[in-house]
Amino acid sequence: MKKNIILIGYMGSGKSAVGRQLAEETSMSYLDLDNYIEDKEQKSIANIFKEKGEIYFRKVETNYLKRCLEEYTNSIISLGGGTPCFGDNMQLILNQQNSNSIYLSTSVSELVKRLINEKAKRPLISHTKNKEELSEFIGKHLFERSAYYSKSKYSINTNNKSIINIVKEIRGLTNV
Ligand code: S3P
Repeated sequence: MKKNIILIGYMGSGKSAVGRQLAEETSMSYLDLDNYIEDKEQKSIANIFKEKGEIYFRKVETNYLKRCLEEYTNSIISLGGGTPCFGDNMQLILNQQNSNSIYLSTSVSELVKRLINEKAKRPLISHTKNKEELSEFIGKHLFERSAYYSKSKYSINTNNKSIINIVKEIRGLTNV
């Protein structure tokens, strides 16, 4: 039985922090797809985008997603913000038997607050010049992506909630 918990959400929605805390509390293993990709490709995500471009990144992202869904059981897997939105990835995630997908839903203003100082590490938002541009970009991007994210089995609103409380909610929903 797979019994994975798959965390989905926009950049800055807390997937990694929540995943790590959940792993610590439950002794499930934790995998961050971005780190897995960086490990396998021996390059940071920012450098993969810079040197090989987004199309290449999306191709390897799908391959590594498949690989880790096959390899990992009883694990918490946090995906990249774009992972569910390309190819058949979301369908693949939903087809995982005995796994729970959870969308961490966060408002645009909260995401802007969390991401404004992190632009350098994040190739998709690094072109925005100020808070207004970042906010406009995230508003449109999140709107497009919500169609994919909201197919997740569960959605949790993370605005004004601590990591500990979000983890509590996930444990309540999934019985881990
Ligand atoms: C991306 C999100 C990033 C990373 C890459 C692309 C996206 O992951 O996969 O920069 O398309 O939203 P995080 O959501 O973990 O930052």
